[in-house]
Amino acid sequence: MQLSVRTSRHSYFIVVEEGALDRLGAELRRARPEAGRSVALVTDSHVGPLHAARAEAALRAADFAVTTQTVPAGENSKSLEQAGALCEAFAAAGLDRHSTIVALGGGVIGDLAGFAAAIYHRGLAVVQVPTTIVAQVDSAIGGKTGVNLAAGKNLVGAFHPPVLVLTDPALLATLPRRAWCEGFAEVIKHGVIADRAMVEELAAAEPRDLTALVSRNAAIKARIVQADEFERGERMHLNFGHTVGHAIEAAAGYGGLLHGEAVALGSVVAARLSVRNAALPAEDEALLHAALRRFELPLRLEGAAAEVGDDALLELLRRDKKFKDGRIRFVLTRRLGSAFVSEDVTEDDIRAALAAVR
Ligand SMILES: NC(=O)c1ccc[n+]([C@@H]2O[C@H](COP(=O)([O-])OP(=O)(O)OC[C@H]3O[C@@H](n4cnc5c(N)ncnc54)[C@H](O)[C@@H]3O)[C@@H](O)[C@H]2O)c1
Ligand SMILES: [Zn+2]
Repeated sequence: MQLSVRTSRHSYFIVVEEGALDRLGAELRRARPEAGRSVALVTDSHVGPLHAARAEAALRAADFAVTTQTVPAGENSKSLEQAGALCEAFAAAGLDRHSTIVALGGGVIGDLAGFAAAIYHRGLAVVQVPTTIVAQVDSAIGGKTGVNLAAGKNLVGAFHPPVLVLTDPALLATLPRRAWCEGFAEVIKHGVIADRAMVEELAAAEPRDLTALVSRNAAIKARIVQADEFERGERMHLNFGHTVGHAIEAAAGYGGLLHGEAVALGSVVAARLSVRNAALPAEDEALLHAALRRFELPLRLEGAAAEVGDDALLELLRRDKKFKDGRIRFVLTRRLGSAFVSEDVTEDDIRAALAAVR
């Protein structure tokens, strides 16, 4: 399957196909006929040993000269230091503005390599080759790149849309079970805001046709970011479950809960708020729970995260930039498959809805 995404700068294709990794070089030639010979492949210490050799071979087969940069796996690599180190490595490898960066990995690599590509020589073409569910259905699409600061996640970044997203669902086969399940929090989120039937299907069974599922989700994300590239309207719907999710993630301490697990809990709270404030039917709330449960995602705060009180969560929420004068812009749903931004959610509403995860 192939989708096209229009941005304010250029249009690009998202190719979703099993085995697509072996066509990386040919697809890069097609997407960017003017590309110079040199390519930097950026990957991490988990993905590199599994999949980099095939990516390199595919690039060399199309007459590209490849240098590979491998950074330590994990969120800590999303730093200014690591972005700087990549830029130094690009310079040492002789990359110039005709060169191409290829990001082979999950969202960490996509965001980091995308950001390094955005700033090196004031912007080099980047190809995203996503290898996690999160990256294939979400982070590789839409052009947001960036790194973290001690003060918070994604505080430094740039809009830098890729010239190509090459998605090979077969690469997901090497994901550990927990990382696989985590990704479905974002898939279910897409269902909540745009595709009720998908939530029903996921609640009933794990997907059999991964390529179809990834394509369906890539299409949802692509449609939304194309309609609202700079997040002035509909793109905000993608934050469903993320407002409270981020607070829970921070409260649990990064590393305690995976991002998708925190988003699952945030979705449970957002659904309860939707029942209270937007008349979401209880059967829709139950359907969301069933889908999350299917992928072993948490519905209640457990362990260290359960020790965090409502006051502490509210305090974290108040730091959210969407919070103003005791009210917060909150993504709610009146019926699964649709979403809207409410301006009327109060702290008391949130306190009451937090009971859903206690
Ligand atoms: N730019 C955006 O729009 C956007 C959207 C959502 C999330 N994000 C960012 O994405 C990041 C999370 O992405 P993620 O969940 O993909 O995390 P990740 O990149 O850390 O990958 C998760 C783990 O899986 C490993 N891995 C990746 N692919 C694998 C494979 N095929 N086989 C085996 N192991 C594999 C990685 O090495 C890592 O250990 C966060 O930093 C988040 O802020 C960005
Ligand atoms: Zn997310």
